[in-house]
Amino acid sequence: MRPFDDIDRIARTEALDRVAAPARDLVNRVLTNRKIADVLHGVPIGHPLHPALAQLSFGSFLSAGLLDILPRTRRPATALIGVGLLVAGPTAASGWADYSQAHEEQQRVGIVHAAANITMITGYVASLAARLRGRSTRGALLGWAALAAGSAGAVLGGHLSYHQSLGANHAEDYPHIGPEDWTDAGALADLPEGEPVARRAGEVNVVVVRRGDEVRALGQRCPHASAPLSDGDLADVDGDTCVECPWHGSVFRLDDGRVMRGPATAPAAVFPTRVRDGRLELRVATWPGVPAS
Ligand code: FES
Repeated sequence: MRPFDDIDRIARTEALDRVAAPARDLVNRVLTNRKIADVLHGVPIGHPLHPALAQLSFGSFLSAGLLDILPRTRRPATALIGVGLLVAGPTAASGWADYSQAHEEQQRVGIVHAAANITMITGYVASLAARLRGRSTRGALLGWAALAAGSAGAVLGGHLSYHQSLGANHAEDYPHIGPEDWTDAGALADLPEGEPVARRAGEVNVVVVRRGDEVRALGQRCPHASAPLSDGDLADVDGDTCVECPWHGSVFRLDDGRVMRGPATAPAAVFPTRVRDGRLELRVATWPGVPAS
């Protein structure tokens, strides 16, 4: 058995739902402000916030652990633990926000990841308290124990991101697989007015919205977790026509795929369109986030 197969077993352990589901429901009851949720997901920076903050807090703890090995470096190590604990609050908040929109298998790994990190934080609080009382050796031992728990949490966090694709951009491949040349996507007359519909162009599925003679097309897969955007509704956000994802409510501007509301942080893939002899043609934009025409 490979060492990381055990993490897949965590994802399959339904017994964890007894803790994971109530935790998800609690976060959703607490995190009702959409703007705050978007900040925690990372929408304003166009990138998941949690991994960036986690690097900062865990990096501080790891550095402190290394300094504790060296002579006469306990004071900077204590300062680094203070920094790590300060960043741990927003790190945890952003992680719980992502967790609340994850699917069941991700939540099972996520709840064990959270337990490991809570153990780590508890250990570092105890370590800091010991150091502030002058018991630096006890503080270093507690710090190393906390670092071991945090390392396990970090492995699970990496598994969530890279193996289970939590936070990954699920629309990243469109510019690589979408048609570079104008490609037929059906008759214009077959498109209903003001309604998202699925169409196929070459090898890719797209969602198409017609407004009069104007047609907008985005990649069918939601960048957050691959929901079919053609099952979503149109929404007006600040005067822009957008499509709302049917699964977790991310909202993308039709003109350029921009994220208007999270949890998605990456834009939807954009397909410029044109009409020739009553036929809709489209091709993929080489870079998401550019205007569709
Ligand atoms: S799949 Fe989650 S917002 Fe679209």
